[in-house]
Amino acid sequence: MTTWMSNAAFGLFFVLAATGIFFFVCTRGALIVREFAGWAHESSHVYPIYSNMRLIKMVDYQPIISAILLFQYPHLVTKIVEGLKATDLRNKKVLVTSCAFGNVIPRVVEASLQSGADRILIADIIKNELVHAKSKLGEYAGKIQYIEDNATDMKSQEGSVDANVMFFLLHELPHELKSKALSEAGRMLKPGGKLYLGEFHKPELWVLRALSWTYFKVFEPLGLALWDSHDPMLLLEEMGGWKAERTTFFFGNFQIVTATKL
Ligand SMILES: C[S@@+](CC[C@H](N)C(=O)[O-])C[C@H]1O[C@@H](n2cnc3c(N)ncnc32)[C@H](O)[C@@H]1O
Repeated sequence: MTTWMSNAAFGLFFVLAATGIFFFVCTRGALIVREFAGWAHESSHVYPIYSNMRLIKMVDYQPIISAILLFQYPHLVTKIVEGLKATDLRNKKVLVTSCAFGNVIPRVVEASLQSGADRILIADIIKNELVHAKSKLGEYAGKIQYIEDNATDMKSQEGSVDANVMFFLLHELPHELKSKALSEAGRMLKPGGKLYLGEFHKPELWVLRALSWTYFKVFEPLGLALWDSHDPMLLLEEMGGWKAERTTFFFGNFQIVTATKL
């Protein structure tokens, strides 16, 4: 191998390793430290990349976020947006349960307003996330309400919204809270209202499954349960009172569940 090739290989390895270490420290590494320190409160499962404003701003770039979701991000968001656009939301309320990086919130807000929604509620347990989301939504200011709230124990009034979007929240929640978040999502919805849930799913291809399994084991061990014991379709079925359908993306690696509250 020539010198430039070995330098390039070393450079690539260094960049990948540094990126991996950065994400580990800002996600699972921090949770391990908190566990040892006995730090336990309602947001102790939230990674520093979602609570520290500098980290939020450093990471939240569309190409980075798309790459983390294997460039399926726009397709997943489009599925949700199509659902919202196909619904008559005139004079209705839409809830976004927890913020997310990238353009999902602006796209969801725009689609909801185009369908006639008169109010969008954005709820998150971390204030900095709400402040950051607000910075992306200036043009819709008068229509949006930001609420500091816990998705697993919402303060908002029962049956107060007609659509609820939960984008990649479940896999980050401790297992016992996954069902609680879904049950709260149902409690918030009016009968006939729809829950749009974006999440990881068990890939069909063994190569992808092996890579994905390794990713979860290293970075997000709480996410693996979505493959079996905490499959959102299964949880909704166990809960009852839902009619749900699932669309998978990229060899089954991701899913959008659209669930109607009966
Ligand atoms: C939706 S998830 C991650 C989304 C995805 N990984 C992305 O691309 O950004 C992250 C958000 O969920 C919020 N969150 C975590 N636990 C929550 C809870 N119990 N209630 C409300 N928001 C919560 C975090 O504060 C953060 O804003």
